Amino acid sequence: MNGTDWDIEAIRKDFPILDEKIYGKPLVYLDNAATTQKPLSVLDKLEDYYRKYNSNVHRGVHLLSQEATEAYEIARRKIAHFINAKSDKEVIFTKGTTDSINLVANCFGRRFLKEGDIVLISAMEHHSNIVPWQITCEEHGGELKVIPIHENGELNMEAFDQLIDTPKLKFLSITYVSNTLGTVNPIKEIIVKAHQRNIPVLVDVAQAVQHIPLDVQDLDAEFVAFSGHKMYGPTGVGCLYGKTEWLDKLPPYQGGGDMIKEVTFAKTEYNVIPFKFEAGTPDISGAIVLGEAVDYMTKLGIENIQKWEHYLIQYAVEQLRNIPNIRFIGEAKNRAGAISFLVGKIHPFDLGELLDKQGIAVRTGHHCTQPLMDIFSIAGTVRASFALYNTKAEIDKLITGVEKAASILG
Ligand code: ALA
Repeated sequence: MNGTDWDIEAIRKDFPILDEKIYGKPLVYLDNAATTQKPLSVLDKLEDYYRKYNSNVHRGVHLLSQEATEAYEIARRKIAHFINAKSDKEVIFTKGTTDSINLVANCFGRRFLKEGDIVLISAMEHHSNIVPWQITCEEHGGELKVIPIHENGELNMEAFDQLIDTPKLKFLSITYVSNTLGTVNPIKEIIVKAHQRNIPVLVDVAQAVQHIPLDVQDLDAEFVAFSGHKMYGPTGVGCLYGKTEWLDKLPPYQGGGDMIKEVTFAKTEYNVIPFKFEAGTPDISGAIVLGEAVDYMTKLGIENIQKWEHYLIQYAVEQLRNIPNIRFIGEAKNRAGAISFLVGKIHPFDLGELLDKQGIAVRTGHHCTQPLMDIFSIAGTVRASFALYNTKAEIDKLITGVEKAASILG
């Protein structure tokens, strides 16, 4: 893709907030790794649900409830199809990536983790793939080990090869794409090596599912976690994919309505998957609307999205490289989604603030990866992150904005 065969003007019209007349001023939105903007079809679907078939799922015998239940299950099917899960029941609706990882850490820990067992993560994990495992290790006497990274932000695969042979290693939980560095990890190689040692794997695809075609059967990880709001859907809903055999053998996460088959005061028989992990009224509208977001991405084609974003990232890196005193935090050969950088001694917050004054939204700070910031001995970065609706002209504005800010602050 070279920027001419992607109908960017038509695509941008799908996103009301990108319209200056609606937002009230021009917006260069480059904080997509935090959350993406929503297309009209997604917004309409939300309103449609509450206007036309708002009802609880699974419990009602009345027509409205059946309609809501059907829409909820259709969304599950769409998502299962989008990630190529073997079965719909392998897709559990959660609150998002954080919730999905907490579910696995909690349930795996309770069932399988013993004193002295090891859980392996990487140095580029988001806090949501660190802290749940720390809590689990603390509860069950386990220990966390960390795969280091190279200076360029790539995973140290030599160290990984050694760590994967750690005696008493019981689980590997790792990100596909770093939210801060944009590094794309060699995830298939990692999973194959873990499986050769019978180690189950969770892959955090929160920063991958919107950028890279994902086939969970091909990936072969036991668990995959992602959020709806980073893939053009609503906040508050996400998914956990799990292989049937693993979801069957984990204990339930939370108790409540819908996750049961039969309850007596003496004993409860749990429901089958996916319902076993969906206690209480789920985010019904969120799930249905996430299905619509998946339709939107499918219509455009994830391969096309990937090509367009690759073109943007290449261009952004080339242009940023010309800025005097720029320091990239992470320069992996294979990258997606985000670019992190610093300029001279300018504090990232100051740079971010001046960019904001020019209508350019980037994220600054530690990006919920404080241990990674410690490795680079920095307090934070400026991060520009991309989505399918960004343009080359917006990158030009970012470059001009950074140059202007640097001339004021430098
Ligand atoms: N994890 C999100 C980010 O990287 C919030 O910005």
